[in-house]
Amino acid sequence: MKKFFKFLPIIFVLSACFCIAFSACGGKNDDKGKLDSTDPSKILVAYFSCTGNTRKIAGYIGDITGGIAYEIIPETPYTAEDLNYNNNSSRANIEQNNPAARPAISGGVDNMAEYEVIYLGYPIWWGEAPKIIYTFLESYDFSGKSIVPFCTSGSSDIGNSATHLHSLASGANWLSGKRFSSSASKSDVENWVM
Ligand SMILES: Cc1cc2nc3c(=O)[nH]c(=O)nc-3n(C[C@H](O)[C@H](O)[C@H](O)COP(=O)(O)O)c2cc1C
Repeated sequence: MKKFFKFLPIIFVLSACFCIAFSACGGKNDDKGKLDSTDPSKILVAYFSCTGNTRKIAGYIGDITGGIAYEIIPETPYTAEDLNYNNNSSRANIEQNNPAARPAISGGVDNMAEYEVIYLGYPIWWGEAPKIIYTFLESYDFSGKSIVPFCTSGSSDIGNSATHLHSLASGANWLSGKRFSSSASKSDVENWVM
């Protein structure tokens, strides 16, 4: 028994090392491990993209998961001038500065009830998701569904852009999000998804 107590600190240190190593491996997948067994027909990859970066990442996620892609298309498309973030009066800047802005979406998802997992992609606009993402989230009942946010940006991380969306679909199970650069490869995305 005395021996046991003598070795107790060593056992403790070894257990701690094991736990740290184990959680580091698990951390690679964040909390998406629980999505591993999801039937591809129940995965929706919904995304908004004006200049193609987020569309590319969404395409990779669709290929990797087998999920169905849905592009959130604005009723009024954004012109290059609408996206001019150097102009305080550009459409994108005005919308991002207006908490009530909800740009209209053209069309929609007919069978949202059938999806269990929604990958939700957007470009970062001034550190946040574009307001059309707010329109999308307010358009459906996401209760009981898992939402996995992802974004692209020039350099900003996903930051609080995703957590600021949680209240718009409070019944959903929001998973950790991920930011990708415009040059992210399919294997970068695969490392995150799988
Ligand atoms: C109005 C506006 C605001 C932006 N704000 C940011 C920002 O805060 N941080 C950043 O790194 N990139 C910012 N960007 C760059 C976009 O996030 C980036 O180019 C993104 O990949 C575009 O995605 P898309 O091609 O799918 O539209 C902004 C772009 C626009 C048009």
